[in-house]
Amino acid sequence: MKKYFAISTAIDYPSGPPHAGHLYEKVCSDVIARWKRLQGYQVHFSTGLDVHGLKIKRKAEEMRMTPKEYVIKAGKPFIELCEKLGISNDDFIDTEEPRHYKVAQQLFNILQKKGFIYKGKYSGPYCVDCETYYTEKDLENGNCPVHKKTVEIVSEESYFLKMEPFRKQLIQHIKKNPDFIFPESKRNEILNRLKEPLRDLSVSRTSFDWGIPISFDKNHVEFVWLEALQNYITTLGGIHNEKFKRFWGGHHVIGKDIIFHHAVIFQTTLLALDLPLSSQIIVHGFINLKGEKMSKAKGNTIDPFAIIDKYGSDSIKYFLIRHIPFGQDGDFSEEALIARINGELVSDLGNLVSRVLTLVEKHKGYVKGRPELNKKLNLKKIEKYMDKLELHHALDEIMNFVRATNKYINDNEPWKKEGNVLANIIYNLLESLRIISILIQPFIPDSAEKISKQLGLKQTQPLLKDCKFGSWKGEPRKGEHLFKKVEWKAEKYHGKKEARNISVSVDKDCQDLGIKAVAAVVSGVTVKKKKGKLEKLKKGIVDKYEFKQDVIAEAYKEIYRKIGAKGIDHPIQTLRGIAKKSGKLPNINTVVDSYNVVALEKGLSIGAHDIDKIKGNVTFKITDGSEDYKPLGSDKAQKANRGEYACVDEARVICRMDIKQCDETKIDDRTSNVFIYVQGNKATSEEYIKDALRQACENIIKFCGGTYKIL
Ligand code: MSP
Repeated sequence: MKKYFAISTAIDYPSGPPHAGHLYEKVCSDVIARWKRLQGYQVHFSTGLDVHGLKIKRKAEEMRMTPKEYVIKAGKPFIELCEKLGISNDDFIDTEEPRHYKVAQQLFNILQKKGFIYKGKYSGPYCVDCETYYTEKDLENGNCPVHKKTVEIVSEESYFLKMEPFRKQLIQHIKKNPDFIFPESKRNEILNRLKEPLRDLSVSRTSFDWGIPISFDKNHVEFVWLEALQNYITTLGGIHNEKFKRFWGGHHVIGKDIIFHHAVIFQTTLLALDLPLSSQIIVHGFINLKGEKMSKAKGNTIDPFAIIDKYGSDSIKYFLIRHIPFGQDGDFSEEALIARINGELVSDLGNLVSRVLTLVEKHKGYVKGRPELNKKLNLKKIEKYMDKLELHHALDEIMNFVRATNKYINDNEPWKKEGNVLANIIYNLLESLRIISILIQPFIPDSAEKISKQLGLKQTQPLLKDCKFGSWKGEPRKGEHLFKKVEWKAEKYHGKKEARNISVSVDKDCQDLGIKAVAAVVSGVTVKKKKGKLEKLKKGIVDKYEFKQDVIAEAYKEIYRKIGAKGIDHPIQTLRGIAKKSGKLPNINTVVDSYNVVALEKGLSIGAHDIDKIKGNVTFKITDGSEDYKPLGSDKAQKANRGEYACVDEARVICRMDIKQCDETKIDDRTSNVFIYVQGNKATSEEYIKDALRQACENIIKFCGGTYKIL
């Protein structure tokens, strides 16, 4: 029996050109849609434009156009974006289309006939940017809580929709269906909001006419959100259509700013219409730029067309899915993008394809044997990750198989083999590559197609059920390299006497472990090997140091246990051990020694790096094992251990947990600007770690000069 799956993105306001948020949402939805097709579902995937309402009307006026002229022009780039990205949508809806008028008007009439709509007068605050009514209580200093801008006061005749009669039923549904709203934090947010009664929603406007008229009262146009949400029904042909009956309920992929509209307004409308509810509301995080919310006013937006032209759509897709844990906010930066392209797409995947096809070209006809590499493929795990919408983990698990296949080449050294042994290796490599081309298809479809072409496979819709080793049937022919290495020109901050801005964040998983961090930058330091007064200070600290019950180290040990990191001592215990044994603290340089005295005294882990060698911003996160790491004193890069926590910049690990810093970013005598942070855990208050940070910075400027700024 055919399985059906309807998925949609939000429909975009063409009040400006498409931005990276629009791009991200389309990419995530496309991955899910393609994965479902891979699983054998018949998929209906829609995206489109939300063209009515006051915001668009005003924008058109500003452009001296009629709203209709404006939306035709402004809508085009959104269609082009889908094409350029290779989004596999089956429909692109524009709410000005007659098919949508028909559905929206019909549903409004049904709601009225069922007695859920009545006429009244609306008076209250309205934010035009989000096209949303607020109560005085919702406002922040009289401003819209989302856009932080002044709201307008609307006072006009309006129809109202009753939502309260459905609140209890909706709560029950959400409670009974844990996956109805993803992720769980957003589900809880909605359940919280549903504790309060729902006020009737004003669902029509009379002060302007850019919208869908109400068929029985032409002075009113429908409230833009009411009809926009119904686009999900329009694209399935309306409520009486076979297609709707087959595909409904939809899976709506949306951003966190419009959950209430989808989870409450739309669902209560469906209940009022006596229709089945949506299947799932999938909330993705927001894309920020270098830690900051993107906004036109700040001038920190990304032009989606420019980055696709520069790096190619597959690289962007790969980066967004692999880099950002799905459901959480994520940061876009070119440094991080390039690190993923070079470190994973070029080195792991591109290299594998090229190695295998070179080998095959050299030894045509040598393909025979029994499966071996299949043991390295954990298909169940990948499927499970996808079911749980952990897209980032699923992609990483696929890349683990890519890495295992590369390792198989290294371990088996086919260049030294011949005959059946060689044929067996080649067979395993070709089958692995074929399976990789299927699994990777939802994420990077263009590259998947290139691999399957080079393997000479017959082009059909790839299916998950074909991801097992079987009889090989391709006719391989080596083609171009899949990805090109991107040269990264490191920003030249060196020697500058002003530290750049940097942000530090602790992701949710690390916060759950109790990890905290505060940071500062110190500009214009002069780093020396030693300084007499500092040596005195160090000696004094060691002499008066007393052994204390170390609750901070214990709390760290609890974290090590939780994440399964074994055989590790807390760095302060190590430092204390050195001090006890030798009667002094190590002599590294004036910056490190300056903060080490504070670290020892306060029992805290402190780290400092040359900020000019750090790429982008810094985050504490749980490692997935793909991160590069070069520990202090080593010149060999290795991969981070999976499942530990690390402090990372946008290219690599800069500190493994709280114990070992990275060699590449260490402070040396050429360092001018320092990035310093203090790590805390559940045993330390925010004030305690801030105080340590202040003391460390004071010491640094005392012994190395410069100025400091707490971030
Ligand atoms: N028109 C409404 C949606 C109606 S759906 C029936 C709308 N449009 S929008 O153009 O403002 O936003 C479209 C989608 O992009 C929303 O899901 C929104 O959350 C998402 N994003 C907007 N900015 C974003 C980021 N910076 N990052 C990720 N997605 C964000 O809302």
